[in-house]
Amino acid sequence: SKKITIAIDGYSSTGKSTVAKQLAAELGYVYVDTGAMYRAVTLYLMRKLLVSDTHFDKEAILRHLPFINISFVFNKEVGYGEVHLNKENVEKEIRLMEVSQQVSKVAAVPEVRKMLVEIQQEIGKNKAVVMDGRDIGTVVFPDADLKLFMTASTEKRAERRYNELRDRGEDVKFEDVLANVKERDYLDTTRDDSPLIKAEDAIEIDNSNLNLEEQFEKVVKLARNKI
Ligand code: C5P
Repeated sequence: SKKITIAIDGYSSTGKSTVAKQLAAELGYVYVDTGAMYRAVTLYLMRKLLVSDTHFDKEAILRHLPFINISFVFNKEVGYGEVHLNKENVEKEIRLMEVSQQVSKVAAVPEVRKMLVEIQQEIGKNKAVVMDGRDIGTVVFPDADLKLFMTASTEKRAERRYNELRDRGEDVKFEDVLANVKERDYLDTTRDDSPLIKAEDAIEIDNSNLNLEEQFEKVVKLARNKI
C-alpha cells in the first residue's frame, strides 16, 4: 500500500492530537504534534523572561531563535516522539496553563513559524506521517493526501481541556480554561501569518457529539480510502 501524508488542523482542544495519535498507531505512521513545537519555543522564551503577560520583546526573541533547538525523541512507552528543547524533554512542562497563555503570541511571529515549518517539512518529507496543528493542510503540506479539520463547540472543548488539566493535577478554574481557549481561537484565526483556516479540500469533523470510538472509525475509513 502507498504511504500518505495526513494533515489534521483545527481549533484548540478539538481532540486533534487524540485522532492523530490513533491514526498514526493504526497505520504505523509517525505522529508529529506541531503545537508542542510552538509550546517548546514559548517555554524557552518564558524562561528567558522575554515573554510574559506584560512583556513581549520581539527583537530579543529574534536574537534568541538561533539558540533554540527543537526535536522529537521517540518514547516507546507512549508510542510517539516527545518534544525536546535543547535536548531536554519538556513534554510535560509545555502543557502548563502558563505556557498555553503565551503560546499564541509567539506563534504569530513569522520568523518562529518559518523555523518550525522547515523542521516539520523535513520530518514529513517521506510521507507516512500524521501531523496536527493549525496550518498543516494550508501551509506545511498543502498537497497532503488527507486533510481533516476538527471542530467542536467552545464549551465542549474547554470542558475537555479542563478535565485534562485537572487529571494532571493542575489547579485551574474552568472559566480561565474557557477564556484561554477563546483567546487562542481569536489569536490563531486573526494573525497575519498562516492564520487558522480550513483548507478548501479539508474534511470537517465536528466531534461535539462523537465518542472516541465513533470518531476513530470515521477517520480510519477516510484514511484507508486514500491508501
Ligand atoms: O495544538 P496546541 O493547542 O498545543 O497548540 C498550541 C498553540 O500553538 C496554538 O494555540 C497556536 O497558537 C500554535 N500553533 C500554531 N500552528 C501550529 C500548531 C500550533 O500556530 N501548526
